[in-house]
Amino acid sequence: MSSFYEQVGGEKFFSDLVSQFYSHVATDPILRPMYPESDLKGAAERLKMFLEQYWGGPTNYQEARGHPRLRMRHAGFHINKAAHDAWIDAMRQAVDGMDMDVELKDQLWSYIEMAADSMVNQPD
Ligand code: HEM
Repeated sequence: MSSFYEQVGGEKFFSDLVSQFYSHVATDPILRPMYPESDLKGAAERLKMFLEQYWGGPTNYQEARGHPRLRMRHAGFHINKAAHDAWIDAMRQAVDGMDMDVELKDQLWSYIEMAADSMVNQPD
């Protein structure tokens, strides 16, 4: 059985997905101010490495950043329902733009939704 990472086409898939996602973040009035860097390259690289590792690809995230502990790493950002929804919208557009098997897309999307729910750390 090949990994999800291999089935979707490896590095190129994650690089395209993340670059689409950040092109939406770059113009989003809620999300953009949350990402302090003048360019989003560093953030894009971290998300790409994380997703590649999660889906069975190279473990560069672990080597560069250590254990993910994503909830903890998001604790410093004000993630309420509006921020969650903006993030999900940007990711939905990115995922919808990917040419991929529909079952793999469902699998990816279920994980994304579950993970995004778990990142909410502020009441409305
Ligand atoms: C629910 C809404 C979310 C918001 C508003 C949000 C926002 C942010 C922000 C502002 C950063 C800092 C950017 C950076 O310097 O890397 C960040 C980092 C990160 N986010 Fe999110 N995020 C959300 C959900 C998610 C989800 C669902 C995932 C995973 C599936 C994720 C994965 C990551 C990763 C891997 C990093 C880099 C962590 C590190 O190594 O420092 N985020 N996020």
